[in-house]
Formats: sequence, structure tokens, C-alpha cells
Amino acid sequence: MRGIVSSIVACLAALCLFTNGLVVADVATCSGIVPMAYRNDKISIMDFGGVGDGRTLNTKAFRAAVYRIEHLNRRGGTLLYVPPGVFLTEAFNLTSHMTLYLAKGAVIRATQNTRDWPLIAPLPSYGRGRERPGGRYMSFIHGDGLHDVIITGENGTIDGQGDVWWNMWRQRTLQYTRPNLVEFMHSRSIIISNVIFKNSPFWNIHPVYCSNVVVRYVTILAPRDSPNTDGIDPDSSSHVCIEDSFISTGDDLVAVKSGWDEYGIAYGRPSSAITIRRITGSSPFAGIAIGSETSGGVVNVLAENINLYNMGVGIHLKTNIGRGGVIRNITVSDVFIEDARKGIKIAGDVGDHPDENYDPNALPVVKDVTIKNVWGYKVQQAGSIQGLKNSPFTRICLSNINLHGAYTPRNSPWTCSDVSGAAVQVNPWPCSELTSTHETGECSVPF
Ligand SMILES: *[C@@H]1O[C@H](CO)[C@@H](O)[C@H](O)[C@H]1NC(C)=O
Ligand SMILES: *[C@@H]1O[C@H](CO)[C@@H](O)[C@H](O)[C@H]1NC(C)=O
Ligand SMILES: *[C@@H]1O[C@H](CO)[C@@H](O)[C@H](O)[C@H]1NC(C)=O
Repeated sequence: MRGIVSSIVACLAALCLFTNGLVVADVATCSGIVPMAYRNDKISIMDFGGVGDGRTLNTKAFRAAVYRIEHLNRRGGTLLYVPPGVFLTEAFNLTSHMTLYLAKGAVIRATQNTRDWPLIAPLPSYGRGRERPGGRYMSFIHGDGLHDVIITGENGTIDGQGDVWWNMWRQRTLQYTRPNLVEFMHSRSIIISNVIFKNSPFWNIHPVYCSNVVVRYVTILAPRDSPNTDGIDPDSSSHVCIEDSFISTGDDLVAVKSGWDEYGIAYGRPSSAITIRRITGSSPFAGIAIGSETSGGVVNVLAENINLYNMGVGIHLKTNIGRGGVIRNITVSDVFIEDARKGIKIAGDVGDHPDENYDPNALPVVKDVTIKNVWGYKVQQAGSIQGLKNSPFTRICLSNINLHGAYTPRNSPWTCSDVSGAAVQVNPWPCSELTSTHETGECSVPF
């Protein structure tokens, strides 16, 4: 009886279908987080002199089209159609109530003229550019203070041509922080779907100070050795839902952030209500990451049904002294990992500082972390949890985790310090800091 009641309650919390008297939970999706907008007004980049030959600069065409959408302000918004072809352009801004629609075979390609790339102010929660002091290059496709924006189509491509930027990073000739491929700041009701993102100069998709953002059915590709090409980085944002995507880049696939040390603490905007599901991908760094910039706090994150292969670390929660911020109520479940240096890592000593003014007493708090139903093979080290002596990680709950080694069932043991919590059915067994609770199924952490 209790089982039936709880399954109905669980089902009501999701979406249910009643079929032949059986209760069948529907597949959870991001639907409903942003209302779908249908645009009656449609224009094409060709109406603004667009040339899709891969050589002609289309900056004026994109800026004029967006200007037209902003100032004519048609009821229900406007769809900007990009037909098949390669449309080279400099960075441009979007506006509210617009859909950027990439047809099958459409490519919006970033110019490699880095010298004329527009600069914008640093993010207040970072205090400076992430990699260089001062301002930062504007993202290739940018939105600030917008709402009701959709980037979609028939899997056309947004191509950052990032190799010139990666080489500047490698040669240490970058003057300012590299541009993200797509960034929305202070925006809400954003949908990004059915688009391929390729060769971003820096992070691929960066919603910062945003709410109600959906990213689904995207493909994000960058070479394995491309520096800092994170896939999707929700940053000081809430109600972000990411699903059904393939990401293979040179850095973390999805990394939830919220600002950097004293600047992030002062700005005080957390990331919350973040859902990540049905993501497949590969990276030399992390699959699902929280951090390392988490100074505004990261709370209420659910990541589930994640498939990772050829990875650095499967699941990585990372923060540092000076960060401050609370990382709390994080659930990661149903993860498959094939071939990784490490399965699970939770650490309090990761990442650099913006400057010397960070507060060494600003210790992060990490608690209520549940990681369950993880299966991996060819994983060199199962995991490590390194808390902080003066701020131990608490209520860390691991259950039903099987991480097999490369050539034998055994791999390097877990290492732990300054952590408490519980473990149930974890193989290899984690560490004595985590108590075993002799229940099957759900891990219940004593508190
Ligand atoms: C884009 O918008 C920002 C403000 O959000 C503004 O500072 C910048 O001048 C605009 N850039 C271009 C190229 O239109
Ligand atoms: C676009 O790609 C997604 C997968 O990311 C796929 O589900 C969808 O069918 C594709 N759409 C088209 C029009 O090719
Ligand atoms: C924990 O986060 C989940 C989302 O992952 C949310 O549904 C739940 O309400 C949160 N719990 C608390 C106590 O805030």
C-alpha cells in the first residue's frame, strides 16, 4: 500500500499517463520552463543583403536585421531565417521577441579578425575577465537584458572558428579574455535547440544572471585539446534546463557556476533549480561539474541519465578557499562512465583566484550531495573526496555505485578527508569517513 501511494505521489510530481489502469510515468522534459513562441512575422537575412559565400562579411546584414526586429517590434515577435550557406560575420547582439532560425545547411561563422572584436565590461561577479584582467571580448552571439529569445532551426551550425583564439592562448598573446560563442546576460525565457555549436573560442553557451533557460537537442563540438571550451555553463542563473544533447569538447561538458571569490560573494547571485538530463559526451575534463567558481552559491541541481566516455573525471564538484558560497542539494543519478581517469571527485582545492584580495577565511560549504546509480568501467581511480579542514563536506551520500578498473575489477582506492556522510552499495568501497547504512535502495544519511 505504502509503495503504491508513494509511486502515485512520485508520479504526480512528474507527469503521468494512466493507461489501462497502470500508472506510467511520462519522460521528464524541459517543456513548460519557457513558453513556446510562434512568430508570424518572418524575415530572411537575404532581405538585408546577406551573402552566404563564406567570404563576404555579413555583420551589417545581421545588425540591420536585429535592428529591424527591435524597432518594428511586431506583435508576437519576429523570426530571422538564415538559409543554407556560410554566413561569415563579426559578433552581433540579439534582441527580445526574436527567433534566430538556422536552416539545414546554414552556418553562421565568426570572423577570425580578433583585432576588431568588440570589448565589453567584465562580469561584476568575476571582477575581471576570467583569464585576463580588465574587460573581455563580447560573445560572438550576445544578448543582454532580453526576454523571449529562441535560437533554433534544422541543426544549422554556429561556428566560432576558435583556433586563432586557442593559439593566442597557447602563445600567451591574449590581451583580454576570449569570447564565449553564445552568451545571455540578465535575460529570461530563452530557448536554444536544434543547433550545432562548433569550435567556440572559449565557453560555448553561457547564460549568466538569467532565469528560465532551456537548452535541448544541441550538439556541441570542439577538439579535445582546445583550451577552456566548456559546453554549457549556467552561471548565477536559475531555472535552467539542459537535456537531450551531445557534447564533446576540450573542457567540462556542463559546469554550473556562480561567480569568483570576493566578486562573486559581493554580487551574491546563486545558481539554482538547474536540471541536466540525457547528456552524452566526452572530454579530458569533467562530464558534470559544479564550479569551480561558486561564490554566489549553487543549490538544487539535478543531473540524471548522463552517458560519458573517454573522460577525465565523470562527476566533479570543485571549489576552493576564498570562494565562499554554499553548494547544497546536488543530486547526480544514473550515470554511465566508460574510460575515465576518475569517476567521482569532490574537492575543496581547485581553481585559481582573481587576485590577491580574496579572503582566505571565505570557506565554501558543501552539503547534501547525493550521487547514486553510477556504473563505470575502465575507470582508473573510483573517486576522491577532499573537504576542507575548517569546513568539512557533510551529508555526502553515495549509493549504488560500481566503478570498475581498467584491466582488472580492482582500481586505485578512494581517498577521502574532511568529509562525512554515508555510502550504500559502493564498489570499490569508498572510505571510512562515510558510514555504511545497512539499508538497501536509498541511502539515508544520519543527521
Ligand atoms: C551589444 O550590446 C551591448 C550592450 O548589451 C552594447 O554595449 C554593444 O555596443 C552592442 N554591440 C554591438 C556590436 O551591437
Ligand atoms: C537535429 O538534431 C537532433 C539531435 O540533436 C535530432 O533529434 C533532430 O531530429 C535533428 N533535426 C533535424 C531537422 O535534422
Ligand atoms: C532539492 O533540489 C531539487 C531539484 O533538484 C528540488 O526539487 C528540491 O525541492 C530541493 N530540495 C530542497 C529541500 O530544497
